[in-house]
Amino acid sequence: MTTPQLPGQPFIAYQDAGLHAEQVPLADLAKQHGTPLFVYSKASMLSALQAYQRGFAGRNALICYAMKANSSLAVLQVFARAGCGFDIVSGGELARALAAGADPAKIIFSGVGKTRAEMQQALQAGIACFNVESTAELEVLNEVALAAGQRANISLRVNPNVDPKTHPYISTGLKGNKFGIAHEEALAAYQRAAALPGLKVAGIDCHIGSQITEEAPYLDAMDRILDLVTAIESAGIAIHHIDFGGGLGINYNGDTPPAADQLWQRLLAKLDTRGFGQRQLMIEPGRSLVGNAGVCLTEVLYLKPGEQKNFCIIDAAMNDLPRPAMYQAYHHIAAVQPRPEAGAEYDVVGPVCESGDWIGRDRSLAVQPGDVLAVFSAGAYCMSMASNYNTRSRPAEVLVDGAQVHVIRARETVAEQFRLESLLP
Ligand code: LLP
Repeated sequence: MTTPQLPGQPFIAYQDAGLHAEQVPLADLAKQHGTPLFVYSKASMLSALQAYQRGFAGRNALICYAMKANSSLAVLQVFARAGCGFDIVSGGELARALAAGADPAKIIFSGVGKTRAEMQQALQAGIACFNVESTAELEVLNEVALAAGQRANISLRVNPNVDPKTHPYISTGLKGNKFGIAHEEALAAYQRAAALPGLKVAGIDCHIGSQITEEAPYLDAMDRILDLVTAIESAGIAIHHIDFGGGLGINYNGDTPPAADQLWQRLLAKLDTRGFGQRQLMIEPGRSLVGNAGVCLTEVLYLKPGEQKNFCIIDAAMNDLPRPAMYQAYHHIAAVQPRPEAGAEYDVVGPVCESGDWIGRDRSLAVQPGDVLAVFSAGAYCMSMASNYNTRSRPAEVLVDGAQVHVIRARETVAEQFRLESLLP
């Protein structure tokens, strides 16, 4: 049996006696910057992006990084400089993307609940396209655009009703999800959109879910979307771009999703066969660009042996790493400087006052208080979902580039946490 590859390799890996991010020992980072600490490898992000870029070589394609996965400014800057557009879901994300140097003409706006103010903000910025998720939203966007004296480019997010075979909370393309417009209603919705003077039909889009590790759901969704494009164009409405969303999974625990370039080789072959190979293509990958580019460093505070379970209590918690509590997600956990002795089985838990505050269950670890652990696959949906629960300050973040270390977010202070609050008179 081969041991599964460590998530994050080759950019986050053991060298000499300890774990490194690129050329930087993680033990040094924990000592200098404290814990919990998010550490990202820039080379890992760019390498993940290059897999998509290779897949799309010679095509008219725009990669819009789904910034909800990790919206820290410097991370956005890495992708903006590499030529990416951005998939945003709020006015806040728009402001962040612009602050990081994004080209507004490469920004697309997804989400079921855009407010009028957010629509105005996005029109003013000159974004590329609104991914509209309901007919009610079409009517409101039309009004907002007319009032601004503009025409909004739109694509309809269509629900292809395929099962992405992932966790129910992150599956979005099935009937019964709040997302998108039902496949059967899409043609009528496009006809309505084409009749509204404040809107200009630009494309079509879909997103079927997240952490998808199989090819088949993508191929099925593509067939369903292309059928629809044919029907819409037969009705005289031109579809300029096709957006296939994001969702490609990563290796958390021996998962073996297809590589982005291989997946796209298959998908592009289908597009070519069906005669759509020259269309403008868009995708919205999030997790697969950043997930395995990051780890969270955390210090072991206490070991607490028990009758049924041993607990390893660390200084990171569900407010910093919410995925295990929210989705029973697995994150690999390993010592930054492994000890030679045999380990014991622990539940790795944080200090938050909830039984749901666990980061890993039944993990075999050789650890002592004061040791630093790395929680892997922490580049996506960790810092961007972090909260201040239990009045815990959010961690600092550093980005490693070769031997260089950039602090991209200072550790939050408690005073900053309650800056916006007021005492009663
Ligand atoms: N496009 C749309 C419209 C989306 O809703 C999402 C993710 C993406 C793109 C990017 O998907 P990705 O490539 O990252 O799978 N917090 C959850 C994941 C929620 C995903 C939400 N939508 C988690 O930690 O697993």
